[in-house]
Amino acid sequence: MTDIRDETHDPTHAADDSAFEELAALLSGRDFWSTRAGGGIRSIVMVDGPHGVRRQAGTADNLGFHQSMPSTCFPPGAGIASSWDPALMREVGEALGREARALDVDMLLGPAINIKRSPLGGRTFEYFSEDPRLTGALAVEYVRGVQSTGVGTSLKHFAVNSQESDRMRVSAEVDSRTLREIYLPAFERVVKEAAPTSVMSAYNAINGVFSSENHWLLTELLREEWGFDGLVVSDWGAIKDRVEALAAGLDLEMPGTGDSGTEAILQAVRDGRLEPALVEASVERLQRLAERTAPAPDALTPDASAGFDPVAHHALARRAAAASVVLLRNEQHTLPLRPGQTVAVIGELAVAPQYQGGGSSHVNPTQVDLPLDELRAALGGERVSYAAGYSKGADAATADALLSEARAAAASVDVAVVMVGLYEEDQSEGFDREHLDLPDAHVALIEAVAGVAPRTVVVLSNGGVVTLEPWHDRVDAIVEGWALGQAVGGALADVLTGAVNPSGRLAETIPLALADTPAYLNFPGEQELVRHGEGVFVGYRYYTSVDRAVRYPFGHGLSYTSFSIDDFEVDGSGTDAAVARVTVRNAGDVAGAEVVQLYIAPAPSAVRRPVRELGAFAKVSLEPGETTTISLELERRSFAHWDARGSRWWVDPGSYRVELGRSASDIIASREVTLAGDVERPAALNLDSTVKEWFGHSVVGPVLIQTMMANATAGQQAAAEANANALKMVESMPMGQFARFPGVEIPAEALEQLILLSGASERTESVA
Ligand code: BGC
Repeated sequence: MTDIRDETHDPTHAADDSAFEELAALLSGRDFWSTRAGGGIRSIVMVDGPHGVRRQAGTADNLGFHQSMPSTCFPPGAGIASSWDPALMREVGEALGREARALDVDMLLGPAINIKRSPLGGRTFEYFSEDPRLTGALAVEYVRGVQSTGVGTSLKHFAVNSQESDRMRVSAEVDSRTLREIYLPAFERVVKEAAPTSVMSAYNAINGVFSSENHWLLTELLREEWGFDGLVVSDWGAIKDRVEALAAGLDLEMPGTGDSGTEAILQAVRDGRLEPALVEASVERLQRLAERTAPAPDALTPDASAGFDPVAHHALARRAAAASVVLLRNEQHTLPLRPGQTVAVIGELAVAPQYQGGGSSHVNPTQVDLPLDELRAALGGERVSYAAGYSKGADAATADALLSEARAAAASVDVAVVMVGLYEEDQSEGFDREHLDLPDAHVALIEAVAGVAPRTVVVLSNGGVVTLEPWHDRVDAIVEGWALGQAVGGALADVLTGAVNPSGRLAETIPLALADTPAYLNFPGEQELVRHGEGVFVGYRYYTSVDRAVRYPFGHGLSYTSFSIDDFEVDGSGTDAAVARVTVRNAGDVAGAEVVQLYIAPAPSAVRRPVRELGAFAKVSLEPGETTTISLELERRSFAHWDARGSRWWVDPGSYRVELGRSASDIIASREVTLAGDVERPAALNLDSTVKEWFGHSVVGPVLIQTMMANATAGQQAAAEANANALKMVESMPMGQFARFPGVEIPAEALEQLILLSGASERTESVA
C-alpha cells in the first residue's frame, strides 16, 4: 500500500480521486465475514467467537442458522468464568487461536464481556460474570491466548449490551459512576493490558447516543483516554449512519453492505462534512490489523497449516469444563459417587446434552461427549441404568409414563442422578428470558425422583441462572454445570465420580426469586429506554448491601476436600493500594483447588458504596496436607470509586476492611488497612456552596462563625446555642440565599472577601 499519510488530499477533491475511493471502500466489509482487499491491504477473515471458531464454508449468517465447519466447542463464558482460572482461560485462548489459524481465520469475534445485569439476559451464557474484575481478568487472558498465535480478537460488545430485548434500538440510561465502575472496567482492563486487535461496538445506545456513533465512547474514552490503537468494527448491522459512525471513530462496517456505505462516506467528504484524514486514519488501522494478524511465514508451511489437533483440543475442553463445574450442595457426602454404588441416570439431557446457547456463537462441535456414556465408562456399564424421565414435546400420557419409569429406576439404585436444564431455544442471542424456571417436566422429574431415591443428585445444564426452588431442600446434591461445551459428558462424569475435584465458584448469584434481583423493576425497560436504576448495585453488590437472602451467593462452590486459612495479613502499599498474603492449606485427604477471594469493604465515603466488592482473587491447587502462601495485590482501583463530579477515580482516605471470603456472603476473616488516599484541599467556595460547606471550610469556617457571632444579638446567640438543630436545619441552603435571610444578612462584600480567601486553594487531582 502507498503510505497514505504521505499523500495530501485536497478535501474537496479527495472524494473524486480514485485512489481515495479505493481506500474508502475498504471500510465496508466485502461480505459477511471478510474485508475487501485494495490499496495493498489484504482481505482478512473474521468470524465468531467467542468459545469456538464458527467458520462458515457455505451460506453465511450471524444468527447460527447455517452450518459451520467443525471446531472445538469450548465452555461458553458462563461455564469457563466459573473456573475463576485466568491461566486456564489463556490455554483455551491459545487453542482457539490455533483453530482459527487452521481454518484460515484472521480474527475471532470475542471475547464477549458484557456484565450480567439480570439473569434474564439472553446472552448470559456467552458472557462471563456480574463482576467486572472477574470478567476483566479472564478476558485479558483470552485475548493474550488467542493473540499469542497471531490471530486477532474483537472485544465485544462495547458497551452496556447487557440485554437482548430491543437491542438495536434501546438506549441504556446509565449514570457515569455506574458506567465507570461496572460496565466499562473490564473493557478498559483488556484494552490497557492485552491490546486487543479490535473492539466491536454494540448495537444499543448509551444515554441516547448509539454506541456505533458515539464519539465519546469510541474516540475520547477508548482511544484518547485508554490508549486503544486497534480497529473499531461495528456489530453486524449496528450502523445507522455511516458518516456519523466514522466521525465518531468506528472504522469498519460489517458485514459489507455493497457500496452504500462507501458512497455515503465519499459524499460527506465532497460536502466537506467529513475530513478525508479520518478516512485515512481508519484505513491505516485496517492496514495495521491486516499486518498484525497475517499468518507468520512458517504457518504457511504444510505442517502448520495441516489443521489443529482435535483430540488434544477436546481433552483441553474436557479439563476446562470440569474446572468450571460448581458443586452447589453436597449433603452427607453424597458425591463423589463411590465404586460399587448403583446409579440411575435420569433425564433426556444425559443422551442429548445442552452445552451451548443459540445465535452467532453457535459452534459445530468436533465431537460431543454424552453424560450417560461417560458415566458408564467411568463406573461400569452394568451399574448404571438410564431412564429418559421427560421428553421434549411429550403428551400428558407419555409424560406420566416417563415419570413412572423414572421413579422405578430411581427406587432401585443407591443414587439417582437427575439431569435437567434449559434447551438451546431457551437461551439465545436475540431475546431475553422471561423467567428463571426450569421446564415444568424437569421440575416434576426432580420431585418424583427425590420422593423415592435413596439419594438424589441434580445436575444442571443451563446457560443462564435457573431457580432451584421449590425443590432445593429435597435433594442431596446439586451440581451446576452451566454451559460446558462439547466435553460436557466427560467433564460431568469426572466431577461426579471424583476423578476431578470440583473447583468452580459462582461467577453470578443464584437468587431465591426473580423479584429479588436488583434490576427486576428496570429490566428490560420499555419504549426504547432501559434505566439502570440500581446503579452500581449489580449482582452481589446489591444483595450484600441490602442484606437480601440469596440461594447461592457469588463466589460459592464446594469441594471434596476442605481448605483452611492458616495466615492472613494485609499491608498498605503507598497511599492507595495494599498487598495481602494468605496461607492456604488443603486440610482434607484429596487434592483440590481453592479460590482465594478478597473483598474490599469501603472506608466512609461521600458516595454510597456497596458493602463489599471483589478486590483480588487467585486459584491455588493443593495436594492433601499441602500448604501454600500467596500474595495478592490490591491495586488502587480496588479501593477507588468514580467521583462523578470531578470525573476521576478517587480513593477516600480512611480505614478499609480487606475481607477473605468463601463467597461474597461468607466472610471468614478480615483485616483493616488504613490508606492516606486522595486528599482534597479545601475547594474554593462560591455562593452556591452550601451553608455546611461554608461553615465546614477549614479556613473560612472559623472566620465566618466569629463574624456571625460578633454581629448577633444576645437573643440570637442564646437561641442558636439552645437549638442544637439550628445549623442542621439550614446546612443544605446555598449561602447566596441564606446570607440574605432576615436576621442573617451577611453583606455581599463580606461574602466576596471570604470567597477570595477560600480561592487560594484548588482541588488536587489524582489519576487512577
Ligand atoms: C452478534 C455479535 C457477532 C456478530 C457476527 C451479531 O449478531 O451480536 O456478537 O459477533 O453478530 O456474527
